[in-house]
Amino acid sequence: MSAIRPRLYIQEVATRDGFQNEARFIETDDKVALIDRLSACGFAKIEVTSFTSPRAIPALLDAEAVMHRIVRAPGVVYTVLVPNVRGAERALSCDVDEVNLVMSVSETHNRANLRMSRSESFGQLRDVIEVVSKTRVAINVSLSTAFGCPMEGDVAEDEVLAWVGRFAELGVHGVTLCDTTGMAYPNQVRQLARRTRDAFAALDTTLHFHNTRGMALANTLAALDAGIDRFDASLGGLGGCPYAPGASGNVCTEELVHMLELNGYDTGVDLAGALEAAARLPGLIGHDVPSQLLKAGRRLDLHPAPEAGTQRPPAAGH
Ligand code: COA
Ligand code: ZN
Repeated sequence: MSAIRPRLYIQEVATRDGFQNEARFIETDDKVALIDRLSACGFAKIEVTSFTSPRAIPALLDAEAVMHRIVRAPGVVYTVLVPNVRGAERALSCDVDEVNLVMSVSETHNRANLRMSRSESFGQLRDVIEVVSKTRVAINVSLSTAFGCPMEGDVAEDEVLAWVGRFAELGVHGVTLCDTTGMAYPNQVRQLARRTRDAFAALDTTLHFHNTRGMALANTLAALDAGIDRFDASLGGLGGCPYAPGASGNVCTEELVHMLELNGYDTGVDLAGALEAAARLPGLIGHDVPSQLLKAGRRLDLHPAPEAGTQRPPAAGH
């Protein structure tokens, strides 16, 4: 008898967190084709694009066209990043399922990324929440630098929880703790995730890791210990914030799914389909992607044994 596999929710962010950081403009048709391919892979949610200022994020200036042209799969939540009321109005005009609001829990990073203080951001996001609450569209808030700011250093846990609390009071449905520049480490993740879950059990809590220092998968295991079941991930390991020094790729979707399925979780994601989609990325963006799984293959993708006589002599050393 096989045990019931615990269900996890994997949220693909490559076409937003990934593409916003690419030097080459990805053509609208190519974005749409990739998203349609991802829609068939079983993700719980896809962060399609962002409705930001085209001067701030030129890579995503075609947000409306992309949203209008994708074919939506039933059961997939299509979300978009929104920084202000203008962005929310643009998003609502495209009939999105969710808006993902963003601010940083670090004052310095918030000013670098959004050009305003945290309290100004909060004021704007409160206005956005007021507008969106009148619709059927869900609201998530992503809190950047929740595990440390590359300019200020650690952000106190109580400070992070206080920001979660302010948004919970406004009635948002979900909150994402973002490790914007890969500063999180497992024990820190376990503790902050646990405190967030305990204090805000009614909120959907997502963890958003970057693999900047190689700790994203370890941090995922720590978050699972704390009862988290939602994770952002990026195909190929693309990603990074253009306004955060040293930012690099998100946790790689196919590596995350590969590990979680081996460990007995049901991610809902078709790994073969995700790998096929990831294999197309280098052609699309014009450079290699960080994914190690794409290079190595799954652990049981076996290789033929070398034929007798063709074996290389044993290598010297270890
Ligand atoms: N969509 C389209 N255009 C927008 C916009 C939006 N959501 N918000 C502002 N703009 C336009 C304004 O109309 C204005 O255009 P104009 O100069 O042609 O009149 C221009 O952008 C500047 O507007 P302003 O309100 O002064 O904003 P700002 O320059 O202070 O920028 C943000 C603030 C938040 C809009 C901008 O910094 C931004 O979009 N940042 C994105 C950050 C991001 O996505 N980072 C990565 C993910 S974490
Ligand atoms: Zn990110």
